[in-house]
Order: sequence, then C-alpha cells, then structure tokens
Amino acid sequence: MATVSLRLITQTNFNECISLKVADNQKKFVATNVQSLAAAFVNPTYHPFGIYDSEAHYQANPSMIGFTMYELIDAVGFILRLMIDEKFQRKGYGRAAMIEVIRRLKLHPEVEQIATSHVRENEAAARLYESLGFVDWEHELRGDEYSGERYLILQKKRT
Ligand SMILES: CC(C)(COP(=O)(O)OP(=O)(O)OC[C@H]1O[C@@H](n2cnc3c(N)ncnc32)[C@H](O)[C@@H]1OP(=O)(O)O)[C@@H](O)C(=O)NCCC(=O)NCCS
Repeated sequence: MATVSLRLITQTNFNECISLKVADNQKKFVATNVQSLAAAFVNPTYHPFGIYDSEAHYQANPSMIGFTMYELIDAVGFILRLMIDEKFQRKGYGRAAMIEVIRRLKLHPEVEQIATSHVRENEAAARLYESLGFVDWEHELRGDEYSGERYLILQKKRT
C-alpha cells in the first residue's frame, strides 16, 4: 500500500510544485497549483503541502508527486485541494494523501469536523472520498453560487 509524507511548500520546492499537472480532461476539476499557492499567500488559514512517496522522503531531493491544501477555520478542517500529477495517478497516492491529511487534521484540538468538496461530475474524487467515509454535507453558507460543487463531511466513527 502506498504511503505518503507531506512537506510544506517553501521557496525550495515551489517551482516543482507549480510544474505538476493533471490530465487535460481533469483540468476542470482543480485549480492550478500556482492559483492555489497565490490564494494561500493572501490567506493565512490555508496550508499548502507537497505530497511525496514516504519511501522517497528520506532522499536528499525527493520528487514531489502531488499537492494538497487544507483550511483551518471555524472548527472545520476543510480539504481544499488534492491533485496527483498525471504521471503518478492510479498508484494509491491520492488515497494515501487523503489518509495523511485526515490524520494531521485530527491532531488539531480545535478541529471538530473534517470536510471537503468536489465538482459534481468528478467521479474519481466522489469514489475516493466516499470510500474514506465522507458523506453529503448540507452547507447552508455556500448557497446556489456553488451548486456545481458537492460538499462532503467525514462521518465520525461511533465508539
Ligand atoms: C482524484 C485523484 C487525486 C486521485 O488520485 P490517484 O492517486 O489517482 O488515486 P488512487 O490511486 O489513490 O485511487 C483511489 C481511488 O480513487 C478512485 N479513482 C482514482 N482515479 C480514478 C479514475 N480515473 N476513475 C475512477 N475512479 C478513480 C478509485 O475509487 C480509486 O480506488 P480504487 O483504486 O480502489 O478503484 C487524481 O485523479 C487527480 O489528481 N485528479 C485531478 C484533480 C482532482 O480531481 N482532484 C480532486 C479535486 S476535489
């Protein structure tokens, strides 16, 4: 099973991050990484990370395989972005990255809910998120303007 490590985007890995690409038919599902990093620059609640294979993490210059960004706001950890470079898709990295982001979000004491969203037609994202326990979230604050987007919340396990 693939496992990943996350590293903050800094001056060192910025160029590699903006060089990552999804397939042409996936471009409508996710902002470019340069757009996401610009958004993070002006919004201190956004946390952008490069995704690396855990095995490669200990090499001096590991290759970045994807990008993720979450927002910590109002007791919600909201996963805003997830992309795996087209060369590295369908190897389990997307699932591994979501598992790692969820693990990190659960470490924040202020986070009470973990949520995400995807473009409605994005079946790969829908399958992935549902398989991890996300269910539909009626998010009244977003309104009609965002109706092309489907909001999901991670169901809490009953203990
Ligand atoms: C969605 C995305 C992150 C998945 O990453 P990935 O590394 O390819 O995914 P994984 O190999 O971990 O697969 C996890 C699950 O996702 C689903 N999935 C991934 N690619 C899929 C595809 N092309 N078609 C259908 N389902 C797919 C499957 O349910 C898969 O589980 P399975 O292998 O047991 O069938 C990747 O396709 C991507 O970067 N897409 C473009 C950007 C995007 O849509 N991001 C999500 C924005 S909300």
